[in-house]
Amino acid sequence: MLIHGLPHRTIWPAASGAVEIIDQTKLPHAVEIVALETVDDAVRAISTMQVRGAPLIGATAAWGLALAVRGDSSDAFLTEAGARLKASRPTAVNLAWAVDRVTAILRALPASAREAAAYAEAAAIAEEDVAACRAIGEHGADLIEAAAGAGSEGPVNILTHCNAGWLAAVDWGTALAPIYVAQERGIPLHVWVDETRPRNQGAALTAFELGEQGVAHTVIVDNAGGHLMQHGRVDLCIVGADRLTRTGDAANKIGTYLKALAAADCKVPFYVAAPSSTIDWTLTDGVRQIPIEERGGEEVTHMRGALADGSWGEVRLTPQASPAANFAFDVTPARLITDIVTERGVSPATEAGLAALFGKTPL
Ligand code: MRU
Repeated sequence: MLIHGLPHRTIWPAASGAVEIIDQTKLPHAVEIVALETVDDAVRAISTMQVRGAPLIGATAAWGLALAVRGDSSDAFLTEAGARLKASRPTAVNLAWAVDRVTAILRALPASAREAAAYAEAAAIAEEDVAACRAIGEHGADLIEAAAGAGSEGPVNILTHCNAGWLAAVDWGTALAPIYVAQERGIPLHVWVDETRPRNQGAALTAFELGEQGVAHTVIVDNAGGHLMQHGRVDLCIVGADRLTRTGDAANKIGTYLKALAAADCKVPFYVAAPSSTIDWTLTDGVRQIPIEERGGEEVTHMRGALADGSWGEVRLTPQASPAANFAFDVTPARLITDIVTERGVSPATEAGLAALFGKTPL
């Protein structure tokens, strides 16, 4: 998608063998490209959120393994590198999925063939993600088009939480892909962007990419969504997911559950958009089984941003003595989700629906 009018992806291999990323901790104030040279660089990029969002974390982990075997293609190092990558963030299942997929291929090969195979598989994962996100866009845009046909005059008003746009994937995004495809179809749109404390992925990243793409949007504080829904100012909600259970529960950025509760109360459709790499087929109860990342309290007590002179600054928000807790994700139970939008189509948030779409046998 576009930055300053030019097409970009979030991650790509460089001719040198390094892997390049857009440093998302600098957005929206600066667009900086960073080269990852080693698996340690990839682990750091994921854990410090230079890259973030479930599909992009998966792609970065895949290329992280390529960087690992570039240095040492032994079984022992492959195991260690995979474990380090998997531990870099716990909630998005795409990370473990990508590490397991690349590792299985490399293990079957002699050490001398592993480097080329790892780069090829990482590139395949990235291309598949782009295709899956584009397909999610097409299926989700049908829902937006139906809302446009059913609603009153004016744009379709869509509320989203966190950033599940192209910056969270390799391109297109998950929750925002339907918005970009609907824009291509000429459907008038307006997006309510939850700021998404404490890392402000909505205010910083979703607002940035919608703006670069020319999509009308308004940033709102995290607590405004319920009020807007009560007053008929939201036609539908679309969010991404970091992990879906086979039964349709969805872990996503903290606060998503509260939006789903408000949507249910106000009878606003609440869609979750995610590729199949986000479905954890081993889990049946999201609230009990999905590990929820807890990050440092300083992300709550402090806020970082651009100062008037353009330099970066950080301010403390809370009393020195007040402790802070920072739960990064919550789980929205399937009963609050209208439908799940995947690359294979739209499914009810049920085990039967997802299993039918992906050819799995219900447990
Ligand atoms: O902590 P983050 O920024 O990695 O969390 C991202 C989200 O919660 C997104 O909404 C989710 O990953 C979907 S990404 C397409």
